[in-house]
Amino acid sequence: MPAPVTHRHRAPDARPSPCRLLADSRLSPLPGSRAPPAAAPKNPPPAAMPQRRRIPMQAAPPEPVTLTLDINRERRTVTVDARTTLLDLLRETLGLTGTKKGCDHGQCGACTVLADGRRINACLSLAAMHDGGSVVTIEGLAIDARNLHPLQAAFVAHDAFQCGYCTPGQICSAAGMLDELAAGAPSLVTDPGCAMAVATDAEIRERMSGNLCRCSAYPNIVAAIREVADTPVADDSHTALDDADAGPRAEPAGPAMPAAAAPGHPTGGAA
Ligand code: FES
Ligand code: FES
Repeated sequence: MPAPVTHRHRAPDARPSPCRLLADSRLSPLPGSRAPPAAAPKNPPPAAMPQRRRIPMQAAPPEPVTLTLDINRERRTVTVDARTTLLDLLRETLGLTGTKKGCDHGQCGACTVLADGRRINACLSLAAMHDGGSVVTIEGLAIDARNLHPLQAAFVAHDAFQCGYCTPGQICSAAGMLDELAAGAPSLVTDPGCAMAVATDAEIRERMSGNLCRCSAYPNIVAAIREVADTPVADDSHTALDDADAGPRAEPAGPAMPAAAAPGHPTGGAA
């Protein structure tokens, strides 16, 4: 008696299945029909790579340059890479770490110093551009540790800082800004009808807008600057900036100049 056929053991069918017929028709063209164009391969082999050009070695770094600058009323002669920024010269070569590096892109004002009496961002200025010029940093604003610059004293009195990282730049910038104000330079918010700009809060905020404070000590910073701006200048008043105008002192021996001011944020002691 033959075994019953189950769905597992089905007898082989002699007829080709419709699927098989369809697959065969794709493989071989029907008689009399044109062969379909060959489909482009999905991932064609990469074309032969062109021969690489030999890239010449980079040009040699520029020759070091020797510069002479009056830094905080002392004549300094340094030999540095011509690409050195003024900020790196101050901090890395001369050890004047009171000037801070924040963004290194001219956006925060932490590196503000006074170059030939004008405030600049030291990170955007090549040291070689100041050969023969004078630079005053936060370490050079005070006559000495006991005679702070009025702005330094006002920042302390008004508690115009928290972490203090922006403070040296704020004070140097304010010193330059007050000179600009005294010279009658207008700002964006100066009333065109006014002959001279007055140190209002709006003027101070606008003129100090290039100096950012991550601790948001702005109200106290403005108050400190306004106090100095509102204080009449005594005839016998004397600041370190006056000394800078008078010319440099003798060049000190040794590679780095010690900071003149005592440690503390307003005087630039924090690195
Ligand atoms: S470090 Fe120079 S502007 Fe920020
Ligand atoms: S006091 Fe901290 S960034 Fe200004």
